[in-house]
Amino acid sequence: MLFTHIGTIVQAHPGTPEKVKGQKLLEIPQLKNAWLRVIDGKIESMGSMDNLPAWEGEEVVDLQGALLMPTWVDCHTHLVFAGSREEEFQWRLQGKGYEQIAAEGGGILNSAKKLQAASEDELYELAVKRMAMLVGFGTGAFEMKSGYGLTTEAELKILRVIRRLKNNFPEIPIKATFMGAHAVPKETNKADYMRLVCEEMIPQIAAEGLADYCDVFCDRGFFTPSEAMQVLMAGKAHGMQPRIHANELGHTGGVDVAIDTKALSADHLEHLNDDEIENLRLSNVMPVFLPGTSFFLGIPYGPAWQLIERDMAFALASDFNPGSCPSGNMNLLASIACTQMKLPVEVVVNATTVNAAYALGLENEVGAIAPGFRANFKTLEPGQTLAAIPYNFGTFKPAKVFVGGKLQQEVFEKVK
Ligand code: NIG
Ligand code: FE
Repeated sequence: MLFTHIGTIVQAHPGTPEKVKGQKLLEIPQLKNAWLRVIDGKIESMGSMDNLPAWEGEEVVDLQGALLMPTWVDCHTHLVFAGSREEEFQWRLQGKGYEQIAAEGGGILNSAKKLQAASEDELYELAVKRMAMLVGFGTGAFEMKSGYGLTTEAELKILRVIRRLKNNFPEIPIKATFMGAHAVPKETNKADYMRLVCEEMIPQIAAEGLADYCDVFCDRGFFTPSEAMQVLMAGKAHGMQPRIHANELGHTGGVDVAIDTKALSADHLEHLNDDEIENLRLSNVMPVFLPGTSFFLGIPYGPAWQLIERDMAFALASDFNPGSCPSGNMNLLASIACTQMKLPVEVVVNATTVNAAYALGLENEVGAIAPGFRANFKTLEPGQTLAAIPYNFGTFKPAKVFVGGKLQQEVFEKVK
């Protein structure tokens, strides 16, 4: 398939791009007045319309000057969940804090109760609907976590749903993360639950090959740095690379755990001091900010500009979940990141494509328009610039979304 008359290819690269750091975050490689050829679900080649080779029998899509760019890579979601938490949202509006709600049986434990009662098929149906909606909004790769199960059976159920999504939608790369250490269920104590996570859940999940990564909620009132370390090392011993929820509620030591365990990413980081930033700079850990969560909970935004000033890279992700960010719409996230974190749209795009792909070890497959990469990209309406995405806040949708070279509508039609 040949796309012609592309006004601009955004994030056009000759091969795998490097992590985007510091001032480089303010720039995006662009190819103007271009064509792009897709073969077998992958980008084969691209070039200028001034030199358009003549291919016989090629299906041609004339983009009439529209912009084409990679689909979003959402490197942090909790997409598999059972139901909404609207009542809690109301409590929060009446002044109750996130931690207080959790202590009163709301929060993660409330989601776990709902998820335990749902069947694998029900969860799968809900997850497909959510995915179809989000791919329509322009996301073409996901990370998805367990952590709303909190029993061995329910954690396995979530990870099996994720495996079904992976198998049924091969056009969309999905990485699975085990996050049993998300909260301690009421019926048990911390020590017993830690044992269950490390000695029962992790070995079983590894035996079934259900998780790529292991994550832990290392924060005040949840898991301490030493408990987080224990969980992540147990995961590592079973082939799951670490990632971590750190510094959402305070400076709670999670950043150091990420560095010590050589985690692929440290996520949240709404609180981040100079020492923590410097330690992250010296490490290979990708910082991931979650502006949708800051917005929805009314907590601070991660200090992204301080990282830019220190020549560091970072990614942005949705954190899509029923408690702290019930939207996985990355276009809305772009609006929030631009207006609230004061980030130029180029920074937001680099952080949600190339850098987010690095956070998932997918840097050779998605996040850029490059030969050999998956044909996961979207187009805007003719005349729209990149700024149309954050500008049209709450309403932006790409004109067309392709995953594996197919229109998103075709991909989601085939599985019911
Ligand atoms: O990343 N912070 C920990 N976990 C999730 C949300 C938990 C919830 O409230 O359900 C998050 O924000
Ligand atoms: Fe999260």
